[in-house]
Amino acid sequence: ILVDHPIYHPIFIDAYRGNFSADQLRAGSVGATIAYALLLQKISSEIVLVDIVEETARGQVLDLSDAGFVTSARIRQGNFQEAGQCDIVIVTAGAKQKRNETRVELIERNYNILSSVISKMKPLNPNIILLIVANPVDVLTYIAQKLSGLPKNQVFGSGTFLDSARLRLELANILKVAENAIHAYVLGEHGDSQFVAWSAAHVGGKSLLDFPEMKAVDKENLAKEIARKAYEIINLKGSTYYGIAGCVSSLVQTIAFDQRHIRPLSVYVEEFQCVLSMPVVLGSSGVERIIDIYLSADEKARLQKSAAELSAICKKYA
Ligand code: LAC
Repeated sequence: ILVDHPIYHPIFIDAYRGNFSADQLRAGSVGATIAYALLLQKISSEIVLVDIVEETARGQVLDLSDAGFVTSARIRQGNFQEAGQCDIVIVTAGAKQKRNETRVELIERNYNILSSVISKMKPLNPNIILLIVANPVDVLTYIAQKLSGLPKNQVFGSGTFLDSARLRLELANILKVAENAIHAYVLGEHGDSQFVAWSAAHVGGKSLLDFPEMKAVDKENLAKEIARKAYEIINLKGSTYYGIAGCVSSLVQTIAFDQRHIRPLSVYVEEFQCVLSMPVVLGSSGVERIIDIYLSADEKARLQKSAAELSAICKKYA
């Protein structure tokens, strides 16, 4: 398949800047874990790792290439100019959340890193797809759209895809069905103001809330647990990377094979003039369209709250 379909070069920018402590640098393995997930899924023909700390990129490439026998993809270290000519660029560069730190509190540091990364990548391949993963992902996606000058459909973020995966995992356990049988989304901010679109959720053509098992579920508490899961993981092991890597490699596959899956991603929403997560159709040219999902009055209010919080920050940075 890799030979037949257009060559795709995902690339990871795991650039660090500033005097982070050694454990924070070591904890930043999101890009390398995404590369590993892509290798195992045999999605891309070439993977290029870029990191301002060149020894980090070199070490990751040497280690990852030892797993190269499982796939025909080549993996190598590259530079920012090469990144700008790739088909897909995945930006994971940035300071990581510390214990009990919100994602939005990262914006000062990560704005500087993102703007430096984008300016070093220019001139950009006009058809490039920029997939933003670094946090706060919604605000950084908005900034990347402005700084890159690319069409907005080519610049989007991983958004609440991971939060929605965490929700579906819990619901699959409650309903005893496969996760991919559950169509339910966390929307809004990939952060504390996110919310679950319960009224649009369905399983096997039946509204989720009509399942008897859901009567005993404290939905507000479950939504809070989903929103807090990253904090719990960070408190236990320092950072998260396997969940986000699974999500991102799945997004790359959807792009690479033009699968047009519907995913909750950080996209520009005209109505709110900011970036937040909505269900979108994703294909080889990026975001094909936003799905105008049904939301109850309460869910609409929560979306507006998320949008108000995010647009206030976006306006400061771009
Ligand atoms: C998390 C990071 C990716 O939610 O924000 O695990």
